[in-house]
Amino acid sequence: MTPIINFAHRGASAVCPENTMAAFRKALELGATGIETDVQMTKDGSLVLIHDETLRRTTNGQGFVKDYTWEEIREFDAGAWFNEDFRGERLPSLEELLLLTKNHGTVINIELKNGIIQYPGLEEKVIAMVQSLGMEDRVVLSSFNHYSLVKCKALAPEIRTGILYMEGLYKAWEYAQTVGADALHANKYAVLPEWVEEAKARGIVYHPFTVNDPQEMKRLIAAKVAGIITDHPDLLNQLLQTEGA
Ligand code: G3P
Ligand code: CA
Repeated sequence: MTPIINFAHRGASAVCPENTMAAFRKALELGATGIETDVQMTKDGSLVLIHDETLRRTTNGQGFVKDYTWEEIREFDAGAWFNEDFRGERLPSLEELLLLTKNHGTVINIELKNGIIQYPGLEEKVIAMVQSLGMEDRVVLSSFNHYSLVKCKALAPEIRTGILYMEGLYKAWEYAQTVGADALHANKYAVLPEWVEEAKARGIVYHPFTVNDPQEMKRLIAAKVAGIITDHPDLLNQLLQTEGA
């Protein structure tokens, strides 16, 4: 049986500032077998890992990511807002995360943050980076922008894609097939065991998010999802062992 992938959401974001190298390293330490992250693009086309389109919440900067160059954006502190111990953390590049995990066998879920801002060439750049490191079989590209996922599949059919959605998507597995997607990155409430089976019969897997409650983790493990996205990879790791998954 293929083990359930333990995706650390934005790294080990319960104990480290999200989407920083500290959070990614900690995730590996805590037993994550996957890492979920968010990619946005700077003014000069660099791929930077940050959840929001703006800097305010998770750095000491202001304004939009798209209005800074890579050199400028690296000046901001991305750790102190979370805890003084993390002062000095910088916003990482996608390349840094891929290099960190290249020899770990970790699955990297790169969420393309192009629902609000349509970064020109984002898909091409992300795919070129993954291909240049030979990590095509280790990556799942996801997005709430499903047009973008269709584009990714056309550019690189060998890289898995996952549709992100909240709830109520009727026969999501059929929709996934029309988009050419491999996975359903469903909100945790939009997952029932019979749907997991229906999807599996068509070669489509579930990677629900963001699952932090142990009871909910147990329910999804029992439903035989292929991966779980969580802020607590340590907790999930423990449960995966005890639940025999
Ligand atoms: O990829 C799962 C989840 O991260 C999607 O929502 O807002 O946390 O990026 P968000
Ligand atoms: Ca995300």
